[in-house]
Amino acid sequence: MEGLKWSLLALLPLLASVILFYMKTPPQKPSHSECSLLDHNDFWISSKRIVTPKGVISGAVEVKGGNIASVMEEDWQENVGTGQVIDYGEAVVMPGLIDVHAHLDDPGRTEWEGFPSGTRAAAAGGLTTLVDMPLNSFPSTVSEETFELKIKAAAKRIYVDVGFWGGLVPENAFNGSALEGLLKAGVLGLKSFMCPSGINDFPMTNAGHIKEGLSILAKYRRPLLVHAEIQRELEDIADDPRSYSTYLKTRPASWEEAAIRELLTVTNSTRAGGPAEGAHLHIVHLSDARSSLDLIKEAKNSGDSITVETCPHYLAFSAEEIHDGDTRFKCAPPIRDAANREKLWGALMDGHIDMLSSDHSPTVPELKLFNDGNFLKAWGGISSLQFVLPVTWSYGRKYGMTLEQLASWWSEKPAKLAGLDLKGAIAIGNHADIVVWEPEVEFDLNDSHPTYVKHPSISAYMGSRLSGKVLATFVRGNLVYKEGKHALAACGVPILAR
Ligand SMILES: *[C@@H]1O[C@H](CO)[C@@H](O)[C@H](O)[C@H]1NC(C)=O
Ligand SMILES: *[C@@H]1O[C@H](CO)[C@@H](O)[C@H](O)[C@H]1NC(C)=O
Ligand SMILES: *[C@@H]1O[C@H](CO)[C@@H](O)[C@H](O)[C@H]1NC(C)=O
Ligand SMILES: [Zn+2]
Repeated sequence: MEGLKWSLLALLPLLASVILFYMKTPPQKPSHSECSLLDHNDFWISSKRIVTPKGVISGAVEVKGGNIASVMEEDWQENVGTGQVIDYGEAVVMPGLIDVHAHLDDPGRTEWEGFPSGTRAAAAGGLTTLVDMPLNSFPSTVSEETFELKIKAAAKRIYVDVGFWGGLVPENAFNGSALEGLLKAGVLGLKSFMCPSGINDFPMTNAGHIKEGLSILAKYRRPLLVHAEIQRELEDIADDPRSYSTYLKTRPASWEEAAIRELLTVTNSTRAGGPAEGAHLHIVHLSDARSSLDLIKEAKNSGDSITVETCPHYLAFSAEEIHDGDTRFKCAPPIRDAANREKLWGALMDGHIDMLSSDHSPTVPELKLFNDGNFLKAWGGISSLQFVLPVTWSYGRKYGMTLEQLASWWSEKPAKLAGLDLKGAIAIGNHADIVVWEPEVEFDLNDSHPTYVKHPSISAYMGSRLSGKVLATFVRGNLVYKEGKHALAACGVPILAR
């Protein structure tokens, strides 16, 4: 021990000079090689399966300065000249996925996830943009000040583009200047809960708060996202808390229906000519595909500006399959019966459900209470971020889903919701946000599979066999992920509303 101490002391002058050197050197602008695994900015991506708004084509996409400069079908070779071409053969080239519902828990609960691990997982999964939720981090993003903390936490620590939702809570709902401050600072829209959120500094709102929120959002033409469940009296549930059916009884579909019914008393203000025209209401993670969905269809028919998302876990799993004590599957609203799942697929395929999102909502394994397996006490939230693309594809194939539908649910519609006009499609002038993947390649998602979320063990998908391997992910022309390698992402600057 003595010897070690002395040798460290001898190193002190050297250390001091190294520190001084770094203090004198101003921080460097990240070099291109730190932002991208490619050493060139302008290049072509070719493939036999490129998913564009006009269908799947065989051709090439020209990337220039981070944007898509051209999309060509036949004769593209003649236009390349001396340009670099990355040929992906039969692999699918698709717009990168946009997840409008991710909880990255940063700042304040980075032991749950954090911007670096969450966005690395996103890049590896083919997601090119995440919109981060205003709760589960600490503090919640409900004011300009707390929003500044988010931006600071994300800057230079993100591997894909990240935007933010702000929180609509009772404290700011009737304070127009507070809400406008938050919107002007750059949140892409607001999010609120109609039941307790489980997070102390994110209280629930009622229809009155929501009406106020919509009137402010109308001016900015941004959406309000709502967790639609209202708590109702339950009969005493004295059943085994390890049994999934017990948990299911504590959050019946009637809670979703009650919330949506109440929401629809205020969404008529968003109709053309209504007092909140320009605002939009988006229902997050719909689980009930029966009465709740019927109400949403009616509202759409009446001209309310309203959309709805569901999540892969509601489409992949059913209550009947969830084992006692397996709290990896606990989320709210809960995963319901298999017949409901079939109806959800039907609604998605028919266009009544507009889009998909992950609702990636991780925590530390200890809070999942795997030893007790108590569904009533465990943290509710499913970890899925890195695998939403192969999961959607693997489960959707038997319903006949197409690559165009996949791109619509995961890119086009989410971009529209978040107001990201330059994202969501492989089209000239858009950001070159692209995922290259092989739908036919299967893999076992087990402990040997490289995963980048902070706590892979809590994911409900661990142990599944999935189809769809991501080869490469480009964000604004930067190659941010390829074969287990990430770009350093020093370019990562949060995207704010413009
Ligand atoms: C409204 O919000 C602003 C900005 O956050 C704050 O300064 C002000 O005190 C709030 N007003 C009320 C009545 O709470
Ligand atoms: C919206 O519906 C509510 C409840 O039915 C009604 O009281 C209100 O007048 C309607 N508002 C508009 C703008 O249509
Ligand atoms: C994971 O799956 C792969 C491929 O099937 C297999 O080779 C490997 O042994 C598995 N690893 C574990 C830890 O189960
Ligand atoms: Zn959520």
